[in-house]
Amino acid sequence: MVTVTVPATSANVGAGFDSLGLALSMHNVFTFEESDRIHITSLDDTHVPGGANNLVYRSARAVYDQLGVPLKGLNITQRNDIPMARGLGSSSACIVAGLLGANALLGKPLTQRQMLTLATAIEGHPDNVAPAMLGGFVTSVYDEGLVYTVKKNIDPDLAFAAFVPDFRLLTSKARAALPQMVSHKDAVYNLSRAALATAAFCDGDYGLLGVATKDALHQRYRLPLIDGGEEMFELAQDLGAQAVYISGAGPTIIAVVHKDDQEFFEQAREALPQTEKLRHFTVYRLLADNIGATVEA
Ligand code: HSE
Repeated sequence: MVTVTVPATSANVGAGFDSLGLALSMHNVFTFEESDRIHITSLDDTHVPGGANNLVYRSARAVYDQLGVPLKGLNITQRNDIPMARGLGSSSACIVAGLLGANALLGKPLTQRQMLTLATAIEGHPDNVAPAMLGGFVTSVYDEGLVYTVKKNIDPDLAFAAFVPDFRLLTSKARAALPQMVSHKDAVYNLSRAALATAAFCDGDYGLLGVATKDALHQRYRLPLIDGGEEMFELAQDLGAQAVYISGAGPTIIAVVHKDDQEFFEQAREALPQTEKLRHFTVYRLLADNIGATVEA
């Protein structure tokens, strides 16, 4: 049996739309065994599709197909700690797990880069799958069918407050809210901040993140889809967060704080239930995952 553990991820990190992402200390665990039929079990109360349509199975199948190896079925179990459709990379975790699980069952014929390319082709963009596989803070570009990445470990002194609401937001809906065209000014606004965010992570200059995570390409279009989103930004900023941004396509909102800032979490936990617009949010205190997906055979 092969066991694959994959971290949650937070994509975009503000300005780095479809390019920047980081891995967090919340994990899904998957097991794989070859079988004569498809058998998929959720080990918690999360509903997962049971047949050939299951994303973990489809991703595993992509490895068999790429290698021309026939596949009758798989026994797959999923433990799903990453909340689904909340902007924390639950789909990417399924894709990465399927690819790594199948590759391990077949004796690891594919390189990490080949799997990253397959994962990106399935997901459509690399900013969740790359940190899910590699861990840390990852800058990635998908160019002519190949993925280019640079990974940097994140300082363990940083904590990430994930404000997760009780509703789902499909990435397809959040992407449909974006304009087809953007102005040159907005493009420059983002590219300069995405470059600054990358430099800040590479240099450990986290004081720059407040400015570097500002965005003009997606957040203002998506905030109306997130009930209480604006108020959540305001609360996190008032409580002294170094940076606040929508995690991936949302609806989770991430605040970056120092890991010793217990007061931030105490005050947030007190304020959420007392604020009508924010009652449906739960805050999780997460750290960076600098390891990425792991495989045990
Ligand atoms: N970069 C993607 C988006 C992440 O914002 O739509 C979600 O998959």
